[in-house]
Amino acid sequence: MTDSFTIRVDGRVIEARQGQTIMEATEQAGIYIPRLCDHPDLRAHGSCRICTVLANGRSVAACTQPVERDMEVKNRHPRVEAWRRQLIAMLFVEGNHFCPCCEKSGNCELQALGYLHGMTATQHPHLFPRRAVDGSHPDILLEHNRCVLCGRCVRASRDVDGKQVFQFAGRGLNRHITVNTEAQLDHPGLDLKDKAVSVCPVGAILKKHKHYGVPVGERKFDHDPIGSDVESHDQDKVT
Ligand code: FES
Repeated sequence: MTDSFTIRVDGRVIEARQGQTIMEATEQAGIYIPRLCDHPDLRAHGSCRICTVLANGRSVAACTQPVERDMEVKNRHPRVEAWRRQLIAMLFVEGNHFCPCCEKSGNCELQALGYLHGMTATQHPHLFPRRAVDGSHPDILLEHNRCVLCGRCVRASRDVDGKQVFQFAGRGLNRHITVNTEAQLDHPGLDLKDKAVSVCPVGAILKKHKHYGVPVGERKFDHDPIGSDVESHDQDKVT
């Protein structure tokens, strides 16, 4: 029996291979599934649930769910997009995301996902948590207010950089990223070139001395919505 087969995504038949995740198969076919914790260079984590799709009628995380022969996937479906909109809105109210004054604005994946899902306001009250800013490293800033706990920095530091600089600590609303050293962020091993410094989807890990380096109008998502590198967003939505 061959290890390749087809699945249907929003009615479109695409090729998939045994062992692939839904995310991998759709990406290969030029179909974008929104994601936040997932990153092509990192092991899938399945924590943010932004990539939720319906697979054979069940809600699953596309970044961790393996494909199955004849699987029926709904990605651009109103119910799925409403779930994602809720998740994105909750991330906005849970942290302190002041986009107009954030250096990552225009290059931020959370902000871009908000735009993609037509999020204009949140239905929930903002929590405005009091969170620290760690500026102890000469070249890198850790801004806990903007962290969405995607864990990309944790996996990149552990699996790519081989350093384990970042870790999760705490539970529930107190869960946060911490630096695995008593010397705080000024970790002797943390370097500007580290993968962990470049994979943050929001403005939680920033390179200092860059400020607002790219003018408004030339930033990554100023003209093209997130996912445009994978597919065009002007396809008709499935209802
Ligand atoms: Fe799949 Fe975060 S992108 S759970």
